[in-house]
Amino acid sequence: MRIRVWDGLVRALHWTLAAAVATAWISGHWAPADFDAVHHTAGYVALGAVALRLIWGFVGSRHARLAQFVRRPREVLAYARALRAGHEPRYIGHNPLGGWMALMLWSCAAAVSLTGWLYTTEWLWGYGWLEALHVALGWLIAGLVGGHLGGVVMTSWRHRENLVAAMFSGMKRGPQGSDVD
Ligand code: HEM
Ligand code: HEM
Repeated sequence: MRIRVWDGLVRALHWTLAAAVATAWISGHWAPADFDAVHHTAGYVALGAVALRLIWGFVGSRHARLAQFVRRPREVLAYARALRAGHEPRYIGHNPLGGWMALMLWSCAAAVSLTGWLYTTEWLWGYGWLEALHVALGWLIAGLVGGHLGGVVMTSWRHRENLVAAMFSGMKRGPQGSDVD
């Protein structure tokens, strides 16, 4: 039986965030100066998507809630060990590593947008370290997204299910056997 795991807002905010971060990243590196507006707008959209998603993390549907998928370090460690040994359980929502990856992606997207905004304000204009931090966070988020995509592909393969399709439709195979809800 298939069940709805990701509600409409989770899916809409995920793809909005992904598109905004990709646009900000590309325009930050390759766009001519008059593309600044694109870069800044994409950054603010990313920040807005993170803010909304975090609120939804408290009031949204079951698998949207942070309390449902942010697991204690002990559980994350046990999952990582099981993964290494090749017998990790399937999770209906985010698995313990995926939950922490989501937190890191949101934090980094918010931090890169905030540092970008701060160094366009008069207040902190001309602070070299702020620009360096913005650039470093830009590279950090690129690395995190790489790890995120690797995790999605590996988990899809291990459990024989298309997690990317599930992020579009919201639907996944319901819990069976040792699956963790
Ligand atoms: C800049 C690019 C991206 C960022 C910042 C990003 C960020 C995130 C975040 C924060 C989550 C947690 C979702 C939530 O609970 O609301 C997530 C989940 C997910 N993302 Fe992305 N994502 C990006 C690109 C992509 C791409 C390109 C794909 C597919 C090819 C993808 C596939 C998924 C899937 C399948 C999940 C659910 C994973 C699971 O089943 O636990 N993401 N992503
Ligand atoms: C997800 C959000 C963001 C990402 C991933 C991002 C990424 C980047 C990257 C990769 C660069 C090029 C760094 C280099 O020179 O190597 C850059 C430059 C810059 N960013 Fe961002 N950025 C984001 C948001 C913002 C925001 C919200 C603002 C301001 C409102 C901003 C302002 C700037 C400025 C002023 C530069 C200097 C270069 C230029 O304007 O063309 N960024 N950013």
